[in-house]
Amino acid sequence: MDECNTRSNKSIGTRLVHNARNPRAQHGFVNTPIHRGSTVLFPTLDALEAAVRADTRTGSYIYGLMANPNSRELEAMLAQLDGGVGAVVVESGLAAVSVPLLAMLCAGDHLLMTDSCYGPTRTLCNAILPRMGIETTFYDPRIGGAIDKLIRPNTRVIFMESPGSLTFEFQDVPAIAAAARARGVTTIIDNSWATPLYFRPIEHGVDIVVHALTKYQSGNSDILLGAIVARDESHWKRVKQTAEAHGHYAHPDDCSTCLRGLRSLEVRLARHQASALEVARWLESRPEVARVLHPALASHPDHAIWKRDFSGATGLFGCVLKPSPRGREQLKEFLESLRFFGMGWSWGGFESLVVASDVRGSRVATPWTDEGALLRFQIGLEDPRDLISDLESAFAQAGSVHLGQG
Ligand SMILES: Cc1ncc(COP(=O)(O)O)c(C=O)c1O
Repeated sequence: MDECNTRSNKSIGTRLVHNARNPRAQHGFVNTPIHRGSTVLFPTLDALEAAVRADTRTGSYIYGLMANPNSRELEAMLAQLDGGVGAVVVESGLAAVSVPLLAMLCAGDHLLMTDSCYGPTRTLCNAILPRMGIETTFYDPRIGGAIDKLIRPNTRVIFMESPGSLTFEFQDVPAIAAAARARGVTTIIDNSWATPLYFRPIEHGVDIVVHALTKYQSGNSDILLGAIVARDESHWKRVKQTAEAHGHYAHPDDCSTCLRGLRSLEVRLARHQASALEVARWLESRPEVARVLHPALASHPDHAIWKRDFSGATGLFGCVLKPSPRGREQLKEFLESLRFFGMGWSWGGFESLVVASDVRGSRVATPWTDEGALLRFQIGLEDPRDLISDLESAFAQAGSVHLGQG
């Protein structure tokens, strides 16, 4: 796309800054303007027919749905970061989950889905895929290479999410990918937590990588966006065709906003990582806390896998509180006393967040047995000392060392 994209041997921070833009083609302006549009005009019939035959990653633009300069730049950056042959951007992270599943699965097929998956991914498996004759088996996220025993003759896809975004199990991705490859099964992973900066699944044998760009990669809680990156041409073509045939589309404003976020991803993640670890260590020392679900802590059951495969930890982690006799009331007092942690879903923005969730009713392969409340913290870009003192006051306000939901 531009001369900068060829410098792929440069370090990731340099690539984030220099790839996927071409000031010389933009009258010298650093960033590419936003190209809003549906119709693309052609000077001749030959030009129109050539555009229709061309690759949407490199050829002339045809129509706004297929590609525009902003989506193409973002896709080029994402494919390059992950080491894939191409990316497809779509309007949300959830669409980035559903599109490759619908691309790879047909009636009569079987899907293996991690039991730690994002809630709406579970809904897709339980409510939508059965209507299309696709059966799902949820598996233990920590199954590793033993997943081989669950692969049936009609298993077409193994879907991973590492870590699970509420319960923080890390999967043995290389072992699962190797077992799948040996049986001709496609692997898909939701890599929204790590981003390609901290984990590159294609290098570990995975076929398709899903990103909720809504989170760290855009980084400001102001857009929804998703992407699918494919390891090889056949997977890329199937995903691209399925996205287009369903009318999926990523708005050029959102693509441009996300690319702006990516430019600073390395420095933002470094701050999220350092602050989250500081807060996680502090929480581990608190009497109210039963366990902290942060992979960089030696107490995390998957610490060794994280150390082996990942080059960092982002700002999202969990903790389980000790069960409390006053249950929900006390939890409510704690959460509502926090000043710097917003209570809300999603993560990856500059601001700190907390949510309490109860996964006990949804797990099927691996019951969640902790009795205390499960909290998820997104540690933002605030000073971690302010966040810790906020948590300390909220614990004091709630007035007990036993604070879970019981
Ligand atoms: C792990 C994970 N994947 C996918 C999504 C979906 O992303 P979006 O909110 O952009 O649809 C989320 C959203 O919270 C998520 O946590």
